Formats: sequence, C-alpha cells, structure tokens
Amino acid sequence: MSTVYLNGGFVPKGEAFVSVDDRGFLLSDGVYEVVPYYEGIPFCLDRHMARLRRSLEALRIDFDTASLGPALKRLVAANALEKAPRSLAYLQITRGVAPRTHYFPEHAVEPTVYAYVKEWSRPSNEAWNRGFTAITVPDRRWARVDIKSIGLLPNVLAFQAARDAGADDCILVRDGIAIEGAHQNFWGVFDGTAVTHPETNLILSGITRSVVLELARDRGIPYVERPILAEELAEAEELFFTGTTGEVRPCVRVDGSPVGDGSVGPVTRALSDAFLEAVDELKEAASAVTR
Ligand code: PDD
Repeated sequence: MSTVYLNGGFVPKGEAFVSVDDRGFLLSDGVYEVVPYYEGIPFCLDRHMARLRRSLEALRIDFDTASLGPALKRLVAANALEKAPRSLAYLQITRGVAPRTHYFPEHAVEPTVYAYVKEWSRPSNEAWNRGFTAITVPDRRWARVDIKSIGLLPNVLAFQAARDAGADDCILVRDGIAIEGAHQNFWGVFDGTAVTHPETNLILSGITRSVVLELARDRGIPYVERPILAEELAEAEELFFTGTTGEVRPCVRVDGSPVGDGSVGPVTRALSDAFLEAVDELKEAASAVTR
C-alpha cells in the first residue's frame, strides 16, 4: 500500500482519514499543487511552491510552506519512486476542520495538509507523433482561475464532455477566446509564432507554460502572449497544450477538423524537444551533485 502525507505524518493510505467537517470536503475551501518529479528530482519546485503560496494568500489560509519540499522528497522515497522516470506529487491544503459556515471559522483552525505521490508515464512516441484530438467546450469556471483551487467541477464536466465525444482533450472557450485546457495551458502557432494566453485571472499560470516560454526565447522561436480567438483555431498552423502531466502535447484535430495539415508541427516538436532536454539537464545536474 502506498504511503501518503497527512498533517505532518507519513501513513499508509488506508490509514489516512480526514474529518467529514473538513472545509475542503464540504466547501471546496482549499488549494492544491501538482509537482513533477523526474527520477526523484523535483522540476521547478520553487515555482510550484511560490504559486502555492499565492493560492494560499488569495484564500487567506495561513500556512508556512517551508516544510513541504522536504516532506515531498521523503514521500517520493517512502514510495520507492526515486528511480521512476516520471512521478508527481499531489499536494492539497484546505482551511481545516470546522462546523460548516459560509464564512471563515471563527476560531483559528489548523489547515489540513495532504499529499500523495504516484508514477505516470508519457504517451508512447507513436501516440505522441500521431498527436491528440480536442473539442471546444464553454468555459464555465469562476473568474479567479489563477488560484489553484480544489473546486474543479467545471473542469471535470468539460473534460468528461471531451471523453464522451471520443476526444483526448478539451479547449475551454470564454467570450470567444480559446483560454486553456481543463488541466493544461493552450497554445497556437500562427505565422510561425507560438501564441499563448497572457497571465490573467482567466488562466492558471502554468509552470510548464513559463518554462516553455523561456525555452522559446532561448531557442529563438518567436512567441507572443495574447488571447487566441476561437475563430482563429481553423487557421492555426499548429496547436498544443502544456502542463505538468502532459509536458508539451500536440493537438492535431479540433471539433473533428484537422489543425493545419493534421500532423504534429515543427514548432510543437522544437518546444517539446527543448523541454525534454531541460529535463535531461536537470537529471544530469542532480547526478553531478551526488557524484
Ligand atoms: N493542472 N491550466 C489548468 C487549469 C491546470 O489545472 C493546470 C495544471 C495547468 C498547467 O499548469 P502546470 O504547467 O503548472 O502543470 C494549466 C494540474 C497538473 C492538475 O490539475 O492535475
């Protein structure tokens, strides 16, 4: 049985329990993070922790995140994932346990902190090279998507709509703009330029997105941060997603129509290669330290 982290302790998953009065359970009153690990080494841990602190501050949950990096490292080891090519840590912090009210608890409560780790694998090269399909779905989320809230019902319904339609992913459309995916940021390529929505309250500021923007800059790949209109999708040369659990993920078909010529394009490939090289560099740097 896997070991999970709960409120400072490491316990078998079957022995980890949270009160039914937890405000995360009753009200989705909490935030989360998903941190990628490559051979047990965290990728951009500082950025994930900084985003977590921003989410906590936005909800006015008072919690010091300093202990979390070491706790996740221990959790990876406890689950024998130090050699796993890819694993991830899911980390959730709720306001804590208190009688249900629509305002904050009147007396200070300890936040509930839960984390688990699991292995995941990239799609086969064959599947990746074929590319993935998506449908457009109305974006029914709230107007503070920049907070990584555990309230994900609109995301779940949108992703289920994609599955029901036999598609791999969904593109959330709000006010005529193709904003992002249900759990990934969204990009288009127009005239050879990589385009992605700017960081506003309407997207989650993806860590993968920020890394890919830096890689585009370093590699001299033109890029711009601007909204992509849904009506532009038909003219896109390429579309792709970025995220912790998809890395750079090509999208070759939207609502049944091919994107460009329907194959994975050169900008997507170049950025994906650059991302995988960055991961290799991380692993090499870590092994140089331990040598
Ligand atoms: N999702 N947009 C949304 C709505 C997301 O939920 C995520 C992450 C991203 C990509 O962010 P990052 O590159 O930091 O993973 C964009 C996580 C992985 C999840 O919900 O499981």
